[in-house]
Amino acid sequence: MIKLVPDTNFMKKLICVFAVVAAWAQDGRATFQTRCSGCHGTDGNGGEHAPSILMTLATKNDPDVAAIIRDGVPRKGMPAFASMPAGELNSLVAFMRTLQRPRRRGFAPVRMTVSLADGGKLEGFAIARTSRELQLRTDDQKIHLLRKTNGEQYRAVTSQADWTSMHGSFSGNRYSELTQIDRNSVGKMAVKWVYAVPNAGRLQGTPQVHEGVMYVTNTNTVIALDAGSGARLWEYTKPPTAGLVGNARSPGNNRSVTVAGEKVFMQTDHAHLVALNRHTGQVVWDTEMADFRKNYNATGSLLAVENLIVAGTAGGEEGVRGFLAAYDQQTGKEVWRFWTIPAKGEPGAESWDGPDIEHGGGPTWLTGSYDPSSKTVYWPTGNAGPDFNGDNRKGDNLYTCSILALDVMTGKLKWHFQPTPHDEWDWDAVQPLVLVDRLWKGQPRKLLLQANRNGFLYVLDRTDGKMLLASPLVKKLTWADGIAPDGRPRMKANQVPTAEGSLICPAVEGAANFFSTSYNPATKLFYVNTLERCAVYTKRTTPEWQAGRGYQGGGGRRDPNDKPEKILRAFDIETGKAVWELPQEGPGDTWTGTLTTAGGIVIFGDDGGALAAADAATGKRLWSFPFTENLHTSPMTYMFDNKQYVSIVNGSVVYTFGAE
Ligand code: HEC
Repeated sequence: MIKLVPDTNFMKKLICVFAVVAAWAQDGRATFQTRCSGCHGTDGNGGEHAPSILMTLATKNDPDVAAIIRDGVPRKGMPAFASMPAGELNSLVAFMRTLQRPRRRGFAPVRMTVSLADGGKLEGFAIARTSRELQLRTDDQKIHLLRKTNGEQYRAVTSQADWTSMHGSFSGNRYSELTQIDRNSVGKMAVKWVYAVPNAGRLQGTPQVHEGVMYVTNTNTVIALDAGSGARLWEYTKPPTAGLVGNARSPGNNRSVTVAGEKVFMQTDHAHLVALNRHTGQVVWDTEMADFRKNYNATGSLLAVENLIVAGTAGGEEGVRGFLAAYDQQTGKEVWRFWTIPAKGEPGAESWDGPDIEHGGGPTWLTGSYDPSSKTVYWPTGNAGPDFNGDNRKGDNLYTCSILALDVMTGKLKWHFQPTPHDEWDWDAVQPLVLVDRLWKGQPRKLLLQANRNGFLYVLDRTDGKMLLASPLVKKLTWADGIAPDGRPRMKANQVPTAEGSLICPAVEGAANFFSTSYNPATKLFYVNTLERCAVYTKRTTPEWQAGRGYQGGGGRRDPNDKPEKILRAFDIETGKAVWELPQEGPGDTWTGTLTTAGGIVIFGDDGGALAAADAATGKRLWSFPFTENLHTSPMTYMFDNKQYVSIVNGSVVYTFGAE
């Protein structure tokens, strides 16, 4: 019989080692809580003054982490702890390792080496992994999207057609050359993957895709995903700004980021423009565009052109002085700024009679368009302040509710066109500006198309801003009986807000709004999701402008006798007439646009709460997918691993469809 004699000595040693490690981590915890948690949060996952450090921990070894703590990152506001004794530093790092909880799919980052099907090898940290795929970060910080081939080997995958700005192209046109999903195959479209954005409400963003990675936005948040599977790669997030007013706070919109070079550019709720390293999500620079304490906020209005980021802000309902500005992509330094509300004495100031020029609005909250051939930026501007009451701002109120053409290098105004002079209805001109080159009535033209909130479709010559055509988008249109050749509306009587309220069409939501419109060069049609609706517009006494407060002089309310209707219309832009119409069943309360492709289809948000597709030539319904919530976003498309996908955000979930 063998008697088991425990090796008490060995056990004691083991317990001792454990105790030392535990004590070490224990001390480290105290150091972390007193010296780090105030900025990074008690769990290291981000706090009031600094972002999460978990990604850094997942991708760096102990000496590197120790070096960061010792040297700090002064440029970014991370203090140096140069005098921390080595023992304390070691126990701090040991404690920090305990902060790394297993991530998505119960999987903790591990270092691994994998073989590629083409014979090479890759070594790095796995960011995410399933039995079929792997997302690996190599030591140069690059992310490799890998798919298992037969056996244990991987092949690298990426995207072949990207979508790197809000509307997918400089032209502002949601048109794609992709043809894999076409009239015939669209009927087979099905969800391929979904990603639910954590802690999100009703999102308004368009996902962006660049080199295989999809970027999804929420307020102060950018999440990078594998565009082929939705696996999460990294996340940048920052707490909401205390004391902020405006749409960036409530409902908390962020409509897109843009990607250029090695950076992803985003806007924070408090009107900062931030450049992130597109591989890691770490901040490269952070520029304050304007002071949020003066009611500026930002909802993701930016375009990467030349070496610049052109960006605008929100704040039209809070009485900001609107502007558009351009920033150097490398440094974040402001290169130029165009004030959409002139200062007294400047050109345009004569169009303001009264004191309200001080808080005149004219925000720039939707991404504009760009013509590289003439180096011209086209940008739409928002309503005049205060909304609904123009008593103290008589005149046209330039450059509110306008389309601006600016020189990209200097920001100098080339021309402007104002669809709604002296706005009293909140009819921002903040709808997409679609640039189209084609024969128009027999002449080659560089056109600019806009389905305006005020109920008219405009076709401009974009070289000089001259109006070529203006015609009604909708039937419910009462405020003007047409647009004169010089572009001015022919106003009808009694169509302004009053104390008791006046019934006016279109409604405050507009006949069109910020959601996408698209033009298809094959059908030569312009697709607009239009709203037939009226509202009772009311006016109050002019409010006093205050920091931290809204600035509205009235409002709009529903008319109980009005039955709103959404109609997808395909316009011939030479006649302004709808060639076909697709009426929708629903509440008339969706904020979703159109995408058209060389596959001969229009993909659009259906008012009944669905994503749908129609034949671009005839308007025949071909496909639809029901959602649980009404749409507040517009669709986009891309190609990944040689397959075409269509993506749209519904509620807080990214849905990605494919047809195979
Ligand atoms: C005053 C606020 C503040 C304090 C205190 C602070 N940090 Fe930081 N830390 C920052 C900021 C800001 C950054 C930069 C984040 C970025 O990249 O934008 C940062 C970055 C880091 C990074 C990532 C650096 C990189 O480039 O990957 C680590 C790791 C880190 N901090 C650890 C610590 C530790 C450990 C402590 C406590 C000893 C600490 N920090 C204390 C503000 C702080």
